[in-house]
Amino acid sequence: MRPFLIAPSILSADFARLGDDVKAVLDAGSDVVHFDVMDNHYVPNLTIGPMVCTALRNYGITADIDVHLMVKPVDRIIPDFAKAGASIITFHPEASEHIDRTLQLIKESGCKAGLVFNPGTPLHYLDHVMDKLDVILLMSVNPGFGGQSFIPHTLEKLRQVRAIIDASGFDIRLQVDGGVKVDNIAEIAAAGADMFVAGSAIFNQPDYKVVIDQMRAELAS
Ligand code: DX5
Ligand code: ZN
Repeated sequence: MRPFLIAPSILSADFARLGDDVKAVLDAGSDVVHFDVMDNHYVPNLTIGPMVCTALRNYGITADIDVHLMVKPVDRIIPDFAKAGASIITFHPEASEHIDRTLQLIKESGCKAGLVFNPGTPLHYLDHVMDKLDVILLMSVNPGFGGQSFIPHTLEKLRQVRAIIDASGFDIRLQVDGGVKVDNIAEIAAAGADMFVAGSAIFNQPDYKVVIDQMRAELAS
């Protein structure tokens, strides 16, 4: 398995000083910026769009930006995020009329592509698109808000997806998002995840480095 990646969700960052906060969390040792896009339609919350991604790039953020699209319809916003500097774009299959076409659109835009599964979304959406995936994201909460509790059934689903990825032979990251904390990250890794989104667990602590170091220590145990 490839090195573990820690991806702070900026949903829990301080939006009044976002550039500094994102720099701080990267300086503290995290790997990827997780950028949650919510439309108050597909999910019951409203967040940020491509302009904010551009602003982070212009501010000097060079780390990968992992754009998690919780919007419907999804296709028309993809080129805008690619132009804004997204590195990875993931979307929910329920938000696309044509999943294969949306994946191709992301790849043609020059970004890595991924599918996101809500806790209740079946895995059969993977059946015919594995060759087009760079990331599979399993939601361990229902999408829309930070600070929710990890849904334990996700562990079983992670084991299933890990087996599917390994059997496929494709090079696909297995990402988990929602309720990831220092005290459950080792168990989540043992179930097969290799990329960990964490919002409130990191940004609600005064010292980001302390919590990221604790997560890395748990992952090494
Ligand atoms: C939820 C978002 C998550 C969220 C995670 O819809 O996709 O990225 O910010 O937040 P925590 O880590 O606080 O559960
Ligand atoms: Zn997310």
